[in-house]
Amino acid sequence: MDRDDGPVKGKDMSQLDVIADGAIAVKDGQVLAVGTTTDLNYFQAKKRIDCKGKLVTPGLVEPHTHLVFGGSREHEMALKQQGVPYLDILKQGGGILSTVKSTRETSEQDLFKKATFHLDRMMSYGITTMEAKSGYGLDYETEMKQMRVANRLKASHKMDMVSTFLGAHAIPEEYKGDPDGFLDEMAAMLPEIKEKQLAEYVDIFCETGVFSVEQSRNFLEKAKATGFNVKIHADEIDPLGGAELAAKLGAISADHLVGTSDKGMKMLAENSVIATLLPGTSFYLGKENHARARDMIEAGTAVALSTDFNPGSSVTENLQFIMNLAALNLKMTPEEIWHAVTVNAANAIGRGDQAGKIAVGRNADIVIWDADNYLYIPYHYGVNHVNTVFKSGEKVFERGGLIG
Ligand code: NIG
Ligand code: FE
Repeated sequence: MDRDDGPVKGKDMSQLDVIADGAIAVKDGQVLAVGTTTDLNYFQAKKRIDCKGKLVTPGLVEPHTHLVFGGSREHEMALKQQGVPYLDILKQGGGILSTVKSTRETSEQDLFKKATFHLDRMMSYGITTMEAKSGYGLDYETEMKQMRVANRLKASHKMDMVSTFLGAHAIPEEYKGDPDGFLDEMAAMLPEIKEKQLAEYVDIFCETGVFSVEQSRNFLEKAKATGFNVKIHADEIDPLGGAELAAKLGAISADHLVGTSDKGMKMLAENSVIATLLPGTSFYLGKENHARARDMIEAGTAVALSTDFNPGSSVTENLQFIMNLAALNLKMTPEEIWHAVTVNAANAIGRGDQAGKIAVGRNADIVIWDADNYLYIPYHYGVNHVNTVFKSGEKVFERGGLIG
């Protein structure tokens, strides 16, 4: 609850600010005061909500999703069960490319409706600020369509939305064998995206068989020159050196980091790049190795957590389940996990000054949980523990159904 807007790094992530018998005063959608019930007792509140001893936290922040897409990929489950690797499914024209086909075929209005459905569900799980990437168009028209949908949601939905351009997500059939030609086409879109303010960040999938470190560097340098800050899908499957590249470019975050080298981890810490970890993806892809959160925290890095919500590698809107996985598979402590889904996640999408904390002058984005302490959420897995969600002081979800 301090005034510093930056991320909480390394061992500081284990110091959580908790008020026993806490109270929050809210006015005009903003936090007016925070303290104990005794401290705040003098307020002549028009309306009082008795939280009945339940846990109350900032709204969760979700820093990495592929929210806007057409179709779904349940037909690929059998391939996964037969052991066909994720990147092989992609090579055969499935995976991301299957969703590209569906997204191209889906109208803007239908994409908007479908994304709203997922967005409502995210809010019901306690998320009040989130990021959404494009990347299932891989052509001018469809990438623009996806970003327009994200921006329409930003304007119309209660959720605070941050849009990212991920045109460099895979190589489409029409550019097979010519990744550089494809990247040129995506790079040519950058000035228009900037001018129309369709995205705040530019991301790339730096991976074996997708884009190399060199191609990623080239592309992201163009993005930076156009005025974007950048993110990287780095070392998700193979340890290519995406983390090192993120550090050299001064990316706001490097995401996944399952295969990151010791040197890469050190460079992330030294260059204050936030490590956004997505343990749902390792879980869903059936991987035995996990991002080395303990080593990253030891090195002094700020770690954030995310669902990676997408139709292929992590099909869930439930960030609470990711908190369970972070405890079980990344060996993060509950204190670290809460920082990772609030203040650090907010900083990973440039919202450190607005979201991720309950502090005076900030939006009253608040969750009341069906739990009486913060250890409980990473412990009891697979269900929704949310009792009530407030966005800017307004009740937007209550157990039992959406309101408004
Ligand atoms: O973060 N790795 C690349 N992109 C997504 C998966 C997208 C998909 O499979 O549709 C990810 O894992
Ligand atoms: Fe992703």
